[in-house]
Amino acid sequence: MHNQIVVTGIAGFVGSNLAKHLLDRGCSVVGIDNLSAGTLENVDPRVEFHKIDIRDPGIYPLLRGVDAVFHLAAMSCLTDCLARPLEAAEVNTLGTLNVLEAARQANAGKFVYADTSAEYEGIYKFPTPEGKIRPIGVYAASKHGGAAFCESYRELYGMNLTIVRYFNVYGPAQDWRRVVPPVMSAFINRMLRGERPIIYGTGEKRRDFIYVDDVNDFHMVVLEDPRSNGRVFNVGTGVNYSINEVYQLVEELLQTGLKPIYKPDLPGEAQVTLADITAGRGLDWQPKVDIHEGLQRSIQYIQERVLQAVTNSDV
Ligand SMILES: NC(=O)c1ccc[n+]([C@@H]2O[C@H](COP(=O)([O-])OP(=O)(O)OC[C@H]3O[C@@H](n4cnc5c(N)ncnc54)[C@H](O)[C@@H]3O)[C@@H](O)[C@H]2O)c1
Repeated sequence: MHNQIVVTGIAGFVGSNLAKHLLDRGCSVVGIDNLSAGTLENVDPRVEFHKIDIRDPGIYPLLRGVDAVFHLAAMSCLTDCLARPLEAAEVNTLGTLNVLEAARQANAGKFVYADTSAEYEGIYKFPTPEGKIRPIGVYAASKHGGAAFCESYRELYGMNLTIVRYFNVYGPAQDWRRVVPPVMSAFINRMLRGERPIIYGTGEKRRDFIYVDDVNDFHMVVLEDPRSNGRVFNVGTGVNYSINEVYQLVEELLQTGLKPIYKPDLPGEAQVTLADITAGRGLDWQPKVDIHEGLQRSIQYIQERVLQAVTNSDV
């Protein structure tokens, strides 16, 4: 496969993994990121990288002649979105509109939008199919704004567009530096350092966790299979685990004897997420990495890359 692909948010967790996937399959990749959350060390050296904001008109020439745009750049931290709602809307809604307009003017072949299961916050049907959404929080509403413009560009201009609605993605390069880091990397990081993991609330919230390689396998399907055109897909596993169960699984692998510290619940989070992945399976895709394997790979990455780097910078 030799395609010219643009990935926005390339210095972030999913974008950096996606870039490696595309490069390994022979694609050329142009990467866009303002490094507000992502880091340069995440960006593969084979990428043509541009440090630029998605709201900047300077992105227009970068999309010229490309076969596909994966639009992943976003203010993705829920607590940041709550603290700075206008900025969340500017980046996640207006920023997406700017990338869409750039893709339209460039006549880009395909547009893929990274949407979120937070769109289902007010929907209580499990497993949840793609049909109905009810975003409530600032993050969800701002991401929904982006998705709404995607739908309008599809209708107005016949843009070849697919919306992928990720559930909880985990794996290597997950951002562990945040104030409240994603649960998998937070547990593993703390427990490997001999610190007790922190659980917000009772630990009984349940999440559909999907390993990042499975997400990127689905991205390849979306790129190659025309049956994905014009549609929305859940990208989850159809299985969920409570936060307490995730702690148990990590503890079984690490055997630290460290017990969790329970802190007050975080506002604006769904109690349960569980994807109905019938639509994705219909494209002959299915998640392959089970949670034990995914956690093992995440532990190995954190041991080799993160803790090693921290130790080296300490000396
Ligand atoms: N990780 C998940 O579990 C998950 C779940 C659902 C949806 N998503 C969506 O997937 C996408 C990728 O998520 P992630 O976990 O990799 O997030 P991330 O925060 O690791 O990556 C986002 C990247 O976007 C960049 N960025 C932010 N604002 C920008 C701007 N104005 N201009 C240019 N770059 C900017 C950041 O620097 C960062 O590198 C996001 O759109 C997110 O909303 C992620």
